[in-house]
Amino acid sequence: MTEIKNNLLLKALKGEDVPRPPVWMMRQAGRYLPDYIKLRDKYSFFERVETPELATEITVMPVNQIGVDAAIIFSDILVILQAMGFKVEMKPGVGPLIVDKINNVNNLKNISEGDEGLLEHVYQAIKLTRQELNGQVPLIGFAGAPWTIFCYLIEGHGSKNFSRAKSFCFKYPEESKQVLLAITNTTVKYLKKQVEAGADVIQIFDSWGGLLSPNDYSLFSMPFIHIIIQEIRESVPVIIFPKGCWYNLNEFAQSGASAISIDWVINPEFARKETENRITLQGNFDPSRLLSHVDIIKKETINMVKSFGTQKYIANLGHGILPNVPVEHAKAFVDTIKEWNEIS
Ligand code: CP3
Repeated sequence: MTEIKNNLLLKALKGEDVPRPPVWMMRQAGRYLPDYIKLRDKYSFFERVETPELATEITVMPVNQIGVDAAIIFSDILVILQAMGFKVEMKPGVGPLIVDKINNVNNLKNISEGDEGLLEHVYQAIKLTRQELNGQVPLIGFAGAPWTIFCYLIEGHGSKNFSRAKSFCFKYPEESKQVLLAITNTTVKYLKKQVEAGADVIQIFDSWGGLLSPNDYSLFSMPFIHIIIQEIRESVPVIIFPKGCWYNLNEFAQSGASAISIDWVINPEFARKETENRITLQGNFDPSRLLSHVDIIKKETINMVKSFGTQKYIANLGHGILPNVPVEHAKAFVDTIKEWNEIS
């Protein structure tokens, strides 16, 4: 396998000394990039995801155009539901739709493990991207945390509070846990195939973790994330993004993950204290802050790095980049980190 020239991310994940922090942005592949918007106007979302050449082109765009230190494969967390036999649509300007969402507890009982072989296009895209990157930067593979996937499966679409998904868990805890386990087992097989295809790092997105109380998180999310981390960590480092979960940072620090990605409502100092500096932290620039003037973005980025410290740290946003961020603003964020040694 080609040796990776820019290994800042891999070093930071191992807790090794780095000359400056690595930087990448969640949801960096697409959205705000003009070349992506051209492809979006020409091909549907799943055409882009399922055509390895297109997924590769989109994945390398931010590496070549913004200069980030890592690539993340262009796909979506919801493809796992397709592997489990569900029909997922992406409505332009609206978001995802699970056409055959779960309507009652009997449907819930019928769910079984999926066939990760149905996601061959993702593995092909990873292989092709690896070739295209030619060792420039590491490639991140990903999946949703089972709880976040369950939210979409039950709700059928995005929601502010996912109250249907939560009420299913609370009314039918045992049946819900069986489904969460089926999602977990499918995800483990899927992630192992991503690693086999060439993913250097895996990130798990628990975007809706913060909707659960600490106790409910320990019932419906944490145990399943633990299974995934244990199964994957032997082969590649795992980054966990438990959005909104300020209360279990210490538990995640001991989970076997290599890094925790935190959102912007958590103070870096608080996160360092909670995790006793045992684990690499990633984050946590408010994505809306990229809409500030460029000089403010630079200043705020410097403040962020100072708060985290330059070691055991991966500069990133606290959630995905917004579609209306000007490219120069994204670049100002990335450049500030890359010029760290001249600035500090
Ligand atoms: O990081 C990357 O750029 C890689 C690609 C990626 C996408 N989705 C592509 C995408 C990743 C890592 C995701 C993860 C994802 N998808 C999450 C977890 C991260 C997060 O932001 O919380 C979630 C919850 C989803 C589900 C999803 N997919 C939603 C809610 C939407 C619609 C709204 C939105 O965020 O844009 C999508 C569509 C989607 N997935 C788009 C992209 C680039 C936008 C649609 C398009 O460009 O046609």
